[in-house]
Amino acid sequence: MGAATLQTATAQDFESYRDYFEPLPALPPIPANNSLTPEKIELGKMLFFEPRISASGVISCASCHNPALGWADRIPLAVGHEGQVGERNTPTVLNSGFLEAQFWDGREPDLEGQALGPIEADVEMAMDLGDALKELAKFDEYVERFAEAFPEKDEPLEADSVAQALASFQRTLNTPNSPFDRYLRGDNQAMSEQQKRGMVAFVNSGCIACHRGPNMTDSRFHRFELPGSTDEGRYVITGEERDRFAFRTPTLRNVAVTYPYFNNGSVDNLHDAVQLMGEQMLGRKLEEDAVDDIVAFLHAMTGEMPQVTFPALP
Ligand code: HEC
Ligand code: HEC
Repeated sequence: MGAATLQTATAQDFESYRDYFEPLPALPPIPANNSLTPEKIELGKMLFFEPRISASGVISCASCHNPALGWADRIPLAVGHEGQVGERNTPTVLNSGFLEAQFWDGREPDLEGQALGPIEADVEMAMDLGDALKELAKFDEYVERFAEAFPEKDEPLEADSVAQALASFQRTLNTPNSPFDRYLRGDNQAMSEQQKRGMVAFVNSGCIACHRGPNMTDSRFHRFELPGSTDEGRYVITGEERDRFAFRTPTLRNVAVTYPYFNNGSVDNLHDAVQLMGEQMLGRKLEEDAVDDIVAFLHAMTGEMPQVTFPALP
């Protein structure tokens, strides 16, 4: 569809584009070996906000995945233990249960596998896992809550339980009912005309090839070279040539509130991010109007933030 046709597109034309997308369900798939229970969710929430499982005693998951900042941090590169600057931008944990590969390089398949890495990572929380467990065991409340959350385990307060509880809590951090979801479910007024034009441009320019499904990502890896960046992405994990500079497609849900963008956080606005995607992923410079429309469309993907009451830690 060319620009002229776009201008005159009727509501009918827009509606047929719904078929390319899927609304976000209230919950992601729950793995058979980690049932989602209120006890695990509540314990996972406490652990997410718990700074005493870091070596300094001051860094929690929420330091970088800050609920007030789109569950990310709004700085280009994460800052962790003793102020060390990491190599990558902090992705949001919103809707992370829908991802089929975790981290920019996809090195973990699921949230359970992902959870313990940051506690031990030198540039993040820098805490020995055994020490973290000992720290938690000092509090009767944690001992009790682990026992309640994992009644089937002989020793409930163990590393896998920490991972399972954190994963369970994060599976509840979803943002359904964005204007985009409401539009997909049949509310024609939920998106503006410009956002609808952006949706059409998003499909017709080919963004949909990678940003698709309920979380607007294929969870696959694609070569993307940022000027000046030496991060070789998935190649570091697999050593395979085709993975050099390949990164997992990130979600576009809530992307308007999770700036700055890309694996090194080097782009601070959506306009430039979309333009760069056109150049690198589609091999062409998108028309200014199309970029503006797509940016407006991306704003329609900001959903209702999860209502999380802050835990009172022991
Ligand atoms: C120092 C900042 C920092 C802390 C603390 C931190 N994270 Fe992260 N988190 C990051 C960064 C940076 C990445 C991306 C790293 C990469 O891809 O190599 C990330 C990635 C993730 C992802 C993957 C999301 C995606 O889109 O792939 C999840 C889930 C996550 N973190 C959860 C947690 C949990 C749970 C904790 C606490 C146990 C935690 N993080 C602590 C900075 C942090
Ligand atoms: C070939 C697959 C592919 C196509 C096509 C594609 N993207 Fe991406 N997109 C990616 C990958 C991979 C990244 C992560 C790049 C990085 O930071 O390493 C990304 C990142 C983004 C980001 C930044 C998100 C963030 O949180 O950092 C935006 C915005 C975006 N894409 C929008 C678009 C738009 C709009 C189009 C169409 C004009 C498009 N993409 C086409 C794969 C693709």
